[in-house]
Formats: sequence, structure tokens, C-alpha cells
Amino acid sequence: MNYKFKIFLISTSRAILEDVKRFIPTEEGYFDVSLISSYNSLRKFAIQNPDLAIVAISNDSDEILLETAVELFGSQTVACVDYIKSYALTVKLIKLRVLSYFSMPEESTSFSDFLKGKVEDWKKKSDIEKLLTIRREQFNFSSFIGNSEKIRDVIALVKKAIEHRDLTVLITGETGTGKNLIARIIHQNTYSDIKPFVEINCASIPPTLLESELFGHEKGAFTDAKDRKMGLFEVASGGTIFLDEIGDLDFNLQGKILKVLEDKTFRRVGGVETLKFEGRIIAATNKNLEHLVAENKFRRDLYYRLMLLPIYLPPLRERGDDIFILAEYYMNKFNELYRKNLPKLKGISPEAKALLKRYPWPGNVRELKHAIERAVILSDGEYLTPDDFKFLFEKKPASLTQQIEEASSNIQITLPFESASLKNLERELIKSVLVRVSGNKSRASKILGISRPRLDRLIQKYRINNP
Ligand SMILES: Nc1ncnc2c1ncn2[C@@H]1O[C@H](COP(=O)(O)OP(=O)(O)OP(=O)(O)O)[C@@H](O)[C@H]1O
Ligand SMILES: [Mg+2]
Repeated sequence: MNYKFKIFLISTSRAILEDVKRFIPTEEGYFDVSLISSYNSLRKFAIQNPDLAIVAISNDSDEILLETAVELFGSQTVACVDYIKSYALTVKLIKLRVLSYFSMPEESTSFSDFLKGKVEDWKKKSDIEKLLTIRREQFNFSSFIGNSEKIRDVIALVKKAIEHRDLTVLITGETGTGKNLIARIIHQNTYSDIKPFVEINCASIPPTLLESELFGHEKGAFTDAKDRKMGLFEVASGGTIFLDEIGDLDFNLQGKILKVLEDKTFRRVGGVETLKFEGRIIAATNKNLEHLVAENKFRRDLYYRLMLLPIYLPPLRERGDDIFILAEYYMNKFNELYRKNLPKLKGISPEAKALLKRYPWPGNVRELKHAIERAVILSDGEYLTPDDFKFLFEKKPASLTQQIEEASSNIQITLPFESASLKNLERELIKSVLVRVSGNKSRASKILGISRPRLDRLIQKYRINNP
């Protein structure tokens, strides 16, 4: 059979995409190169797993594409070429653990050698191995670890969801309990071939933008609508749309989602045509929807509609000995990653296990995973001991939401009376927030309640130097 080495070249700049493309060896017949220049098309392409995704970075939007590519394909499929050479970017690349990164144009020869090496390795694989990389099953049941009674109940419900592919599923549970993982598992096991899985975080986008993101818009529907745009419901048709953090959905949009749930139809913003959504909706939240209904923040009719097949993921502290199975699973994983040339860890000492059991795990499985990772890095013995977990009981840095709350409290702006205009207030407010969040624009836009692109435009308009 004739398989091809599938490369995704990703960057918002067309010129840079062309520049990077030059480095791909030109041997006939081996390559299938897709050029991807926006977040939406990256999401759309994501259903085809690439053998290698190369993200070329020349601005902030490219960094968002980079993070998305790592999330979609896994860090070990992503390489990066860097056209801006910033220290912050290097730190990010190290944190994301991408396969390799190259500073352009200085390291173009190494980049070219890297590509040749990847292709040579790939050629040596058998057809079956090539097929496996294309159809990697990352989200099968075996990736969901746990055997406690509560988790066995969860798995029984997940199987029901897979059987009834038309049912809407609501996944609830504290942060880090595995809601995203379960959504992926349901999707992957519902369809026998590759179908789109489209994920959107309802809390991260302001309501007006979210509406056109979900349903698309017609040309001219509002000032910025220069062309017709497909919404995520259209992109996800035939597969799954995953509405994460549905508890944060704006009241007006809740009604529109209810309509899709009820008769599977919707309209683009500014459009008259009725479109059909033929796929499954999975929703998730870590909020208590019942409480939100009681406070009139969540529509009761939507709540009932979502409650047909609710899957509640219990917190880690209620999962009995699953915590040890999970801890050992992750220990072995990080053994491979961090101890390639060192003697491998053999296990977790009984004292350390007692300590893991005692700790309340507010961040659930995610927190446990990170704690094990840290302990594997710190430890130099054969077993993980209580010493390796000391940091769990030290004062922890504040969570992101806490940081945002702290950062957003008490901002004081003083303006001279003669220049007390709204414009100046806006400029000073943006400046102060940026200083508070050390120039982190994503966080600043969240605090200011505007989108990232809008913040970028205002920064340009007021010529603000980002700290
Ligand atoms: N049962 C499990 N077995 C193995 N890994 C798990 C399990 N549950 C969660 N994880 C891992 O823990 C991390 C957090 O899971 P996930 O992102 O699905 O949580 P979440 O409930 O969506 O959290 P949040 O509410 O913060 O979005 C992921 O890395 C996931 O792979
Ligand atoms: Mg989640």
C-alpha cells in the first residue's frame, strides 16, 4: 500500500508557510503536506492525525496555534520553527516539551537535517506501523485508569453513551476529574472511522463572539463579518461537538443551544437558512447546574434536556485505592520520560502511599499526575518516599482564578481633571491591568472582559508598550 508521510505546516503568515515549505525534501510521492493558517482550519484538519506538525512562529497568534497543535496531536508530534526569538517563547517550548525547535534562519540546516531524519525513520516502518500512526487510538478505555466501584459505574454509563449515539451527554465533576478525557473516549468509541471532534470552551469567549463561533455568520451580519463563516456546529456535523464549561454559557445562548438539542437545527448569525446538525452534543461543567437553575442563571428546560444521560465523575479522594493505581501508572510513564539513562523507579513506599491517601487532592487526577511527575524528577532513590512529596504540604502558589481575582482587585487610576476622558480611562485601565498580569495578554483580556484580538487592537490604537 502507498502511505504518505503526513505533514501539517502551521502558521498565520502565508509568507512564512512558503518559507518553511522549502525545507521539506522534495522526493516524489512520499509527502502529503497541508498548509494551515488559522485556528479554525487547524481544528478542522485535526481529524486527520499528522505524522508531524510543524508550527512556525512569527507572532502571538501563532503561539495559540502552537498550544492547540500540542493539545490536539500531542507534544511528540509537534516541532517548532521560531522567527521571533523571544526568551518567553523558548521557555514555553521547553514547558510544552515539543519534539524539537529551531531558530530561523540560523538553524535552517539543522531543521532540514531533522526533517530528513524523521522521514528516514518513517520509511523504515512497515505498512501496518504507518497505518497505526495515522489512526492512533489515543483515547481508548485503557487510557481511563481506575477500578473502584464508583469508576466502574462511570464506565458502565460511558458504554451506554457509546451505544446510544444520538443521546446528549452531560459530564460533571470537580476540576481535573477527567471530563475532557471521557468526552474524547465517548467520541472515539462511538464511530468506527474518523469523524470530527470539535471542542469549545464556553467560558473563554465573550457571548457575542461565541454565538458566531458556534453557529457561524453570514457576510455583513455585523461590522466585522467580512465573509460568510462556518460555525462549529457545521464543522462538527457527523461527529461530536463538545461544549466545555456549559455552566458559564450566556442565558440567551442557552436558548439557542436548547433549540439545537430539541430539533437539531440552527441558523447562522444574520442568516435565514435553517441548517441541520447531525451529530452528538457532549457538554461538561464543574459547576453545580442545579444550583445555577435555582439562582435563575441556567435555564431549567435546558437543564432537564441535558440530564438525560448525566455522567458524574467523583473526586479522586472518593475513589479508594484507585489513587495508587493512577500514581503507579503515571510513575511508569514519567520513568520512561525522565529516566531514560537512569535506573528506573521500582515503586512507591508504603509511607508515601499513606501520605498520598491523606492528601485531599483538590485538583484531582490532574494534580496527582503533576505531583507524580515532580516526585519522579526530584527522587534519586529506587522508591518514591514521603520526602519526594513534601511540596504537597508546602504553601502553594495561587491558582489561576485566584491570581486573576487578586490581580483584578483594587486597580486605581488617577487622571488629571483636564484629561479625564473615557478614552484616557480606557488606555490607563488597559495599561494597569497589563502591568498587574506581567504582560500576559490572555489573562488581561479575561479580566477586561474583551477578546484577545480586541485587546491587541486597543494596544495598537493607544500605542501601549506591553511590559
Ligand atoms: N481516570 C484517569 N486515568 C488517567 N488519566 C486521567 C484520568 N482522569 C483524568 N486523567 C488525566 O488528568 C488530567 C485532567 O483531566 P481532564 O482534563 O479530562 O479533567 P477535567 O475534568 O476536564 O478538568 P477541568 O474541569 O479542569 O477542565 C488529564 O491529563 C487526563 O488525561
Ligand atoms: Mg476540562
